[in-house]
Amino acid sequence: NKIAVELTTAPKSKPDNGQLSFGKYFTDHMFILDYDAGKGWHDPRIVPYQPIPLDPAAKVFHYGQTVFEGMKAYKTPEGPVLLFRPYKNLQRLNRSNARLSIPHIDEGLVIEALKQLIQIDKDWIPDEQGTSLYIRPFVIATQATLGVQPSEQYMFMIILSPVGSYYAEGINPVNIYVESEYVRAVTGGVGNAKTGGNYAAGLKAQQEATEKGYSQVLWLDGIHRKYIEEVGSMNVFFKVGDKVITPALNGSILEGVTRDSVIRLLKHWKVDVEERTISIDELVDAYRNGQLQEAFGTGTAAVISPIGELNWQGDKLTLNGGKTGELSARVYDFMTGLQRGLIEDPFGWIEKL
Ligand code: COI
Repeated sequence: NKIAVELTTAPKSKPDNGQLSFGKYFTDHMFILDYDAGKGWHDPRIVPYQPIPLDPAAKVFHYGQTVFEGMKAYKTPEGPVLLFRPYKNLQRLNRSNARLSIPHIDEGLVIEALKQLIQIDKDWIPDEQGTSLYIRPFVIATQATLGVQPSEQYMFMIILSPVGSYYAEGINPVNIYVESEYVRAVTGGVGNAKTGGNYAAGLKAQQEATEKGYSQVLWLDGIHRKYIEEVGSMNVFFKVGDKVITPALNGSILEGVTRDSVIRLLKHWKVDVEERTISIDELVDAYRNGQLQEAFGTGTAAVISPIGELNWQGDKLTLNGGKTGELSARVYDFMTGLQRGLIEDPFGWIEKL
């Protein structure tokens, strides 16, 4: 399974750090791996970044049989490129694959492809604080037939994008609208798989929240419309008294790698952290009692995104005076310091390239 490499003859000019924002620019190369029933995954190759020809009947366009991942690479002053828990993402990729009836992909091959691709495009990794190289592996069903069955052909690809912060607010708090009409996912559905449909399902609520002046929504569960699930496209944490609470994984919540890392970090710091069911009523009560001190989202793209205000049915709950809380800042500084190689890694999460 040797990876073929075709280098570009027309390298693109690179954006300045200030222009980056999120996912606007792509590097010079990409990785492709094909799948055909009977043949399995085959022809791993790195090629110049380019559009891909697809038949209009390709199943991904019609039935959304697709999954993706998100990871980041960081450049260190001494040279090596650092990856954060890449195996954890690739295991999740295969769990998402299994849920979407997409064949398992060899994780060792993907790591090898990732390493070679990043090595080739390493001059694209921005090195300023708050910037990184975002890695987007994804699979699409390419068989050109309209029957609703699992595809017999797929493409797995990896593209790379130099990025700045995900939210325009950066590490400053975002205001969140608690969504009581639309839901993101239900247990038994695909909420715990990283698949495009979950994000498409969230757009309408996000759009309406934006119109009301909010950056994102807080998702409640699909059955009772009562229990907290996620915030925007991130997992969510609350500091209540001296405890930190986060919704327990229930089948409709994505198993965030940053979520898992933050839980383990808090435990390492001897902070009391609970994964359990949290109702919006409990949060509002905690707020009224002065116990709800901080809230933040966690995800690969933003790492930590503090919440400044929660709008629950017109009631505005201002958290920590609308400023980044002490714990949120401490978690952000540690996570980003670790990812950039500025802090000793007590967990064995950093992979050097
Ligand atoms: C995240 O990293 O938080 C994500 O969910 C990826 C996002 C760009 C869709």
